Amino acid sequence: MLIKKPSKIAPSEITSETSFLNRRKFLKQQSILGGGLLGAGLIGNTQAALQPDDDLTPEEIVTSYNNFYEFGTGKSDPVEYAHEMSTDPWTVKVSGDANKTGKFAFEDIVKGLDVEDRIYRFRCVEAWSMVVPWRGVALKDVLQQFEPKTSAKFVEFKTLVRPSEMRGQRAVFQSIDWPYTEGLRLDEAYHPLAIMALGVYGKDLPNQNGAPWRLMVPWKYGFKSVKSIVSIRFTYRQPRNSWNVLAPHEYGFYANVNPAVSHPRWSQASERRLPSSVFNPNRRPTLPFNGYADEVASLYSGMDLAKFY
Ligand code: MTE
Repeated sequence: MLIKKPSKIAPSEITSETSFLNRRKFLKQQSILGGGLLGAGLIGNTQAALQPDDDLTPEEIVTSYNNFYEFGTGKSDPVEYAHEMSTDPWTVKVSGDANKTGKFAFEDIVKGLDVEDRIYRFRCVEAWSMVVPWRGVALKDVLQQFEPKTSAKFVEFKTLVRPSEMRGQRAVFQSIDWPYTEGLRLDEAYHPLAIMALGVYGKDLPNQNGAPWRLMVPWKYGFKSVKSIVSIRFTYRQPRNSWNVLAPHEYGFYANVNPAVSHPRWSQASERRLPSSVFNPNRRPTLPFNGYADEVASLYSGMDLAKFY
């Protein structure tokens, strides 16, 4: 796939950054600079899942080729318009089957949680992919503060609705019934690879990537990773999720990356790793669970993954 805004990404920058910030150098740099921020065990895990040619996708691409329909459906709409969203103050409503519910300041929720750097492969259902250095907190740590009750089996997340600052929400033609909503089974949410990302490339998340925090579940298609979250709800019932509501035959609830189950309109067997061009498509096979099968496949044992897509 061609990157839509080539003017914003000088080829010289891409080349120099790719060769400079390859994965090992980045990790080394982070461990020198970040020291205690790195969770040794998890870096071991995520590192093991990366392939030798999983070089980091240049920052310019990660932060300018986005899906964030609240700002428009074009890949360059978010970087162009997301600055219109104000993220300070940021309040999160916690509701449902938990002992601690109510409205919380975002800073109070993440204060005191361990912040870690995670390099994850990121696979969009549209069949492009990236390798992204996120900074974030364990989703489990976020959720357990609210003391979910044993009746809670799922967790639902919702994005901000603020048409005055989100031009996609005031467009004449609306694809999504706002708020953008996603959900996970609670045992999926508690998996150590699931994080709430607060930053990327060592900086706070830019608005177009879902400031001030967004979900990151690396074994699932990117649409599960809901951005700019203002609501967390614990529930007994499987929540509806936006893309499933929009096109139930095309997008499921689980959305685990699966090369064996095609999207009705295209194959999921391979992906285009960005940067990708007509001359260098950079196409590679897609891996089950996006390469994290050793870590997460047991969450789905006994399930027919063609049925629960
Ligand atoms: N979250 C919201 N609120 N709105 C969106 O349109 N798009 C999803 C996901 N989260 C989306 C969202 C999709 S389809 C993808 S692939 C990823 O965000 C893209 O994340 P990125 O722009 O940081 O690469």
